[in-house]
Amino acid sequence: MIKSIQIEELKPGMYIILPRAWRSHPFISNRFTITSKKQIQKLVDYGITEINIDEMKGMPAESVMAEHEEPEKDFSDDLKNSAETLKDIITDKKVLPAARARAVQMHSVDMMKSLWLNPTGERIAEFKEGVVSVVDLILQDDATNSQLLKLTSYDYDTYIHSVNVGVLAISLAKVLLKKGDKHDMHALGAGFFLHDLGKVKIDEAIIKKPGKLTDEEMDLMRKHPSMGFKLLHETKQISIESRLIVLQHHERNHGGGYPRGLRGEDIHIYGRICSVADVFDALVSKRPYKAQLSPFHALKLMKDEMLDHFHKDVFEKFVLLFK
Ligand SMILES: [Fe+2]
Repeated sequence: MIKSIQIEELKPGMYIILPRAWRSHPFISNRFTITSKKQIQKLVDYGITEINIDEMKGMPAESVMAEHEEPEKDFSDDLKNSAETLKDIITDKKVLPAARARAVQMHSVDMMKSLWLNPTGERIAEFKEGVVSVVDLILQDDATNSQLLKLTSYDYDTYIHSVNVGVLAISLAKVLLKKGDKHDMHALGAGFFLHDLGKVKIDEAIIKKPGKLTDEEMDLMRKHPSMGFKLLHETKQISIESRLIVLQHHERNHGGGYPRGLRGEDIHIYGRICSVADVFDALVSKRPYKAQLSPFHALKLMKDEMLDHFHKDVFEKFVLLFK
C-alpha cells in the first residue's frame, strides 16, 4: 500500500517512492529502501517535505508511530534492491558516464553496507550478482570506467574504501591480465570488493579509532586478512583465487607485509593487484589522522618511498590508469 508521510516520519527500513524523475533529486533511483539516516538528510536538504512509501515493500508507517524509537532494522531486501538498482542504472543508455559512475559508486556502497550487517553465504551470493554488473561495466564501458577512477578521492569509511578498491583493482586487472589467460573477472571482482570483509570481526571502536592503535589493537587489525579468508571459506561462495585476494592484500613485495610476510612472486598476482589499489585509496582518502593526497601526489609518494612494496609491472600499469 502506498502511503504519504511527512519527511520527519521517514525511517531506515522504509521503501520510498520519490515524486520526481531521478535527475531532479539526489538519488539515481526513484524507488528504493532507505538504509541510513544520511539518505534521509539528503532528502531533507533537497527540500522534500512529504514522501510516498510503499508499505508492502518496506517498513510501514504505523510501526514508527507506535514505537517512537529506532525500529529493529531488517536489511534483508536492501542488498537485493541495491544489486537490482545497479543493474538498472548500468543498462540505462540515457545516463551519462559521470552520473552513471556516481550512481554505481553510491549503490555499491549501499550494497556493501547491507552485506556488512550480516555476511551470510546467501547474501554474499546476492552481493556477487551486483558485483558482476559493476565488473561488466568496467570491462565494457571505458567512458564510465574513467569517470569511476576520478571518483576515488572521497571521505573515508570501510564501505567506501572497499568499493573504491574494488573499482581500482578491477580496472587494473582489465589492463594487466592477459586476455588469453583464464581469469574469472566476476569472481575476481567479488574478491576485490570484499578484501576487507574480515574487519566485520573486529570491534568497530578499533576500526574507527581516530588516533594511533595500541600494539594489541594493531595485532588484532593485522588478523583481518586471515579472518576474511576464513569467513569466505566458510560461506563457500568465493573461489580460492578470490579468497587469496582477501588473504594477501597486505603482503608486500619486499616481504614486510602481513599476515605471512610473503615476497615477490610468492604473492598471487591477484593479491599484488589488490595491494596497490588498497594503498593508493588509503593515501587519497581523507582520514582524521592524515592529510588527503591528490592522485598525483599519492602515486608520487608510492613511487618515491614505497616502490619496493609493489610488483614493478603491476605498479607501472596502475600509474597508467591515471594518464
Ligand atoms: Fe585491509
